Amino acid sequence: EKGGYATFMEKEINDQPHAVADTLLGRTDSEGRLALDELHISEDELRAVTKIVIVACGTAAYAGMVAKYAIEHWTRIPVEVELAHEFRYRDPVIDEHTLVVSISQSGETMDTLMAVRHAKELGARTVSICNTHGSTIPRESDAVLYTHAGPEIAVASTKAFLAQITASYILGLYLASLRGTAYGEDAAQVMAELATVPGKIEELLTRMDRVKEIAYYMADSRSVLFLGRHVGYPVAMEGALKLKELAYIHAEGFAAGELKHGPIALIEPGQPVFVIVPSPGVEHGLHDKVVSNIQEIRARGARTLVIAEEGDEDVVPFADEVIRVPHTSPLLAPLLTVVPLQVFALHLSTAKGLDVDQPRNLAKSVTVE
Ligand code: F6R
Repeated sequence: EKGGYATFMEKEINDQPHAVADTLLGRTDSEGRLALDELHISEDELRAVTKIVIVACGTAAYAGMVAKYAIEHWTRIPVEVELAHEFRYRDPVIDEHTLVVSISQSGETMDTLMAVRHAKELGARTVSICNTHGSTIPRESDAVLYTHAGPEIAVASTKAFLAQITASYILGLYLASLRGTAYGEDAAQVMAELATVPGKIEELLTRMDRVKEIAYYMADSRSVLFLGRHVGYPVAMEGALKLKELAYIHAEGFAAGELKHGPIALIEPGQPVFVIVPSPGVEHGLHDKVVSNIQEIRARGARTLVIAEEGDEDVVPFADEVIRVPHTSPLLAPLLTVVPLQVFALHLSTAKGLDVDQPRNLAKSVTVE
């Protein structure tokens, strides 16, 4: 049942090309237009949406943070992302024109379920992005967009994360085309580019040997930092979460722009820092800004483990290790850049002799508060 792999997590990491491909399947009609029939909210209601609030926990919340960048860009609808357990005990500004999108692999996370109920009481329309057919959250939501990652057994979420990003992008493109924004017209093009991602993940997975070696020689690390910017910022936090959960190592993800506002004080000689570099094609010169950050922390002795696109030579002079990912447009990059971080946490956990699939103190679905 582990398909020849030593652990479910390893199998699930290797399932990721299918998780993305299957989540894309059947979402476009013969002319390449998006067709979402599981969405039982009228087009008029969707056109009237003035705000989107994404509620989720843990890895699913990081998928939501990635989605915010894309959905705002494509739809011009303001998107907030909130941890479900914070949302449910607040007095959030929600009305019938708010679309509350929950993201949950299990569909049974109590905090997320209660946030959805809270949103409904306040009059919002609710959409569930979920991996488990017939689970509670989709049953209680007005509409559901299933991710097709297949069952996720390992406690630490991997393939569900990629499927969640994919599904929320489909939702964003659908809303953009309904509202006739400029990006709505590009929806087919983005969908076509998304369709190339599974092949790129496949290719990336064939060259993870060096990441495994790095994990083994870093098995004694006491703290690892992760820096990212733009959509790479939630990826940094997800990389840190994987390492905490699986290897019980202190880890933190930061927005690279925050460095000089505090975290740079943590940099001392030998401190390992993963940096997720935006693709050179990203707007506003963000790529060069992150390259400068690598230079700054390296000058203070950090060991820099740099995740950068193929052909990006700017990072080379400041990197102790360069982990290459295939080229994609900037918004799709998280579907690739997170993979080496998952593989790193998996091997570091293995190197420490820990239980990869069942980390201590954790349950696969958190059905209590
Ligand atoms: C991290 C992890 C958790 C879950 C979170 C939400 O690896 O697995 O952070 O992502 O508990 O779970 P779901 O998606 O089932 O609501």
